[in-house]
Amino acid sequence: MTSRHSVRAVAISPNRPGEVHLTTLDHPEPGPGEVEITVIRVGVCGTDRELIRGEIGHPPAGSSELILGHEVAGRVSKVGARVAGFKVGDLVTVMVRRPDDCPACVAGQPDMCLDRNYTERGIAGAHGFMAEKIVEHQQWVIAVPDYLESVATLIEPLTVVEKAVRQAELIQRRLNYWNLRTALVVGAGPIGLLGTLLLRSKGVDVHTVARTRSPNPASELVASCGATYVSTNEQSIAELAAMLPNIDLILECSGASSVVFESMGVLGNNGVLVLLSLTGGHSTMEVPAAEINRSLVAGNKVVVGSVNAGREDFTNAVDSLERFEELWPGLAASMITHRFSPNDDLFAATGDLPGGIKSVIEFEGPGRS
Ligand code: BGC
Repeated sequence: MTSRHSVRAVAISPNRPGEVHLTTLDHPEPGPGEVEITVIRVGVCGTDRELIRGEIGHPPAGSSELILGHEVAGRVSKVGARVAGFKVGDLVTVMVRRPDDCPACVAGQPDMCLDRNYTERGIAGAHGFMAEKIVEHQQWVIAVPDYLESVATLIEPLTVVEKAVRQAELIQRRLNYWNLRTALVVGAGPIGLLGTLLLRSKGVDVHTVARTRSPNPASELVASCGATYVSTNEQSIAELAAMLPNIDLILECSGASSVVFESMGVLGNNGVLVLLSLTGGHSTMEVPAAEINRSLVAGNKVVVGSVNAGREDFTNAVDSLERFEELWPGLAASMITHRFSPNDDLFAATGDLPGGIKSVIEFEGPGRS
């Protein structure tokens, strides 16, 4: 800390796209119902890279910069008045989205916000967690068992696939019988890999599809949890699907809009395709519209978009990480391939690193390893 009431933080200025810098921020004392969290580490993801490029996001009202970071692990270091359930030293992570006043938000589902006027810490209208210390209201703080410290930054990205699978399960209540046996995960970035682990932990036969030829760190992780890695350089999605039984579920997390239509084309009867890639840009393409429509209708197939996550997805993600540790000790932690400090070259630290899966920025918190 530079002084008692200011903390160092990693920020972007929307008027200077392509740049990331270290800044100092006034740090408030936790008010009633709030906790102070000393940050251990924060994950970097594709959304941060889009923010840095200036493609999405905006700072809080009245601020010229936005503190990045929405995948946090930290320890409670102070509790304000009327805080129940958290004490100094507790390992925690924090939910990202804050509600607006739309009916869905008021009904307790800010992840389903109707008017898209929500704020998201570190993304839209609110500072993020890439700071030495943060203050947060207890209602958005999630307790994490101590022994999950090394993987606690993976909870937020894991919530994305937790919500996806929960959506599919809710949708499939339309069926008297749904046996989730075969799933395709399209994309082997952090979200695709966490989706692979999640579905494998539920005993599903998972095929994870990505462009890069194996072996690579992602293909090794896929194999280690008993899933099959397929490079589209060797086999197309359609060729793979032709060899598989009915594809019950597809998680699309490739970040490429064209793959969405390819995925629709191979979804099995009564299946669900969950779209998770917030693709930027304005790319267009020709699609076999009649064929896709026919197969969706005749096969009772559902295509659903899913963004962000609810509280239950966070608590489910904590449970899943515990399960991952039981099934494959240390495997989830191996996703963290690069560690940086806030004093390193922040542009490199937040960039896409060849052969890397997940980078984290580590602060001098109590758990710094
Ligand atoms: C975050 C989500 C967020 C989304 C869109 C993702 O990186 O994990 O929580 O809703 O970006 O802003």
